[in-house]
Amino acid sequence: MHGISARERLARVTPEIEWAVLAPELEAIDRLKRERGAIVLAHNYQTPEIFHGVADLTGDSLALAQRGAETEADVIVLCGVHFMAETAKILSPTKTVLIPDLEAGCSLAESITAADVRLLRERYPGAPVVTYVNTSAEVKAESDVCCTSANAVEVVESLGSERVIFLPDEYLGRHVADQTDVEIVLWRGHCEVHERFTAPEIRSYRELHPGIEVLAHPECPPDVLAEADFVGSTAGMIHHVGETRPRRVVMVTECSMSDNVALEYPEIEFIRPCNLCPHMKQITLSKIRQALERLEHRVEVEAEIASRARAAVQRMLDVGRGGQ
Ligand code: 13P
Ligand code: SF4
Repeated sequence: MHGISARERLARVTPEIEWAVLAPELEAIDRLKRERGAIVLAHNYQTPEIFHGVADLTGDSLALAQRGAETEADVIVLCGVHFMAETAKILSPTKTVLIPDLEAGCSLAESITAADVRLLRERYPGAPVVTYVNTSAEVKAESDVCCTSANAVEVVESLGSERVIFLPDEYLGRHVADQTDVEIVLWRGHCEVHERFTAPEIRSYRELHPGIEVLAHPECPPDVLAEADFVGSTAGMIHHVGETRPRRVVMVTECSMSDNVALEYPEIEFIRPCNLCPHMKQITLSKIRQALERLEHRVEVEAEIASRARAAVQRMLDVGRGGQ
């Protein structure tokens, strides 16, 4: 299966009658990308027809930030949620950054405001603020450094502080706290997708599917993570599957991840519980085509906020990818 292109992988699993509809849409997007000098970046939670069909680059939040900053393309179409497109714009202010649907938000980003961060700084004087990238540009601008689930521990420890304010994901913050001596001040933001998984549910996968390897995203509640064999970012989970090739696996995260990875590893049995991210699912092929046709929706970040937010994102990129 390896050695064939992502598009070929998609064609092999798509029924002929569906491919007849899908292929012209993919070709239209290819043509528009060439005409616009555009590149499509897609998060691992995008559906297979986007992930395998039209994306030039795919990855977790950190990879999208890193690769968005490196690309030479004039136009970036960010197939993910709004904070990801904002991060791309913050890092590439002269590029046109498009998101196919402006409604693609995030429950974590919505859980905290810039004013909340200022209040926390007053309450914990001197404690640096580490902010998960799943936040607005305004919140990033109030922060010392950003992180993703792939590098959160390294970022926290890079500050050399005894106490750190960690925003806004409580469960990721607890997971970090378990791995460091740094005191972590938490905020009660949650991902509406990952908070729905429960520990009894994970135990039932093990009973129903003996020998299953359980991989979980650190946005899941602590009792779910305690049941997992491996905890990591979306890219960390994909890498783990590629390295260890389990016979059966469950990825305790958004539905489309397993669909995308299963296409690459047909020999592995994927058990697929489905918790959908309604925000990620706002992005569709027809909206991507429209975004390229109309050059909309342009993501803009006010210059002064972008400059402060860029410093926080850049500090994270300087730390790089951690152990996951
Ligand atoms: P990562 O891809 O960085 O693991 O993030 C998961 C997520 O929920 C993004 O919204
Ligand atoms: Fe936000 Fe969760 Fe959706 Fe990711 S999966 S965009 S963290 S709501």
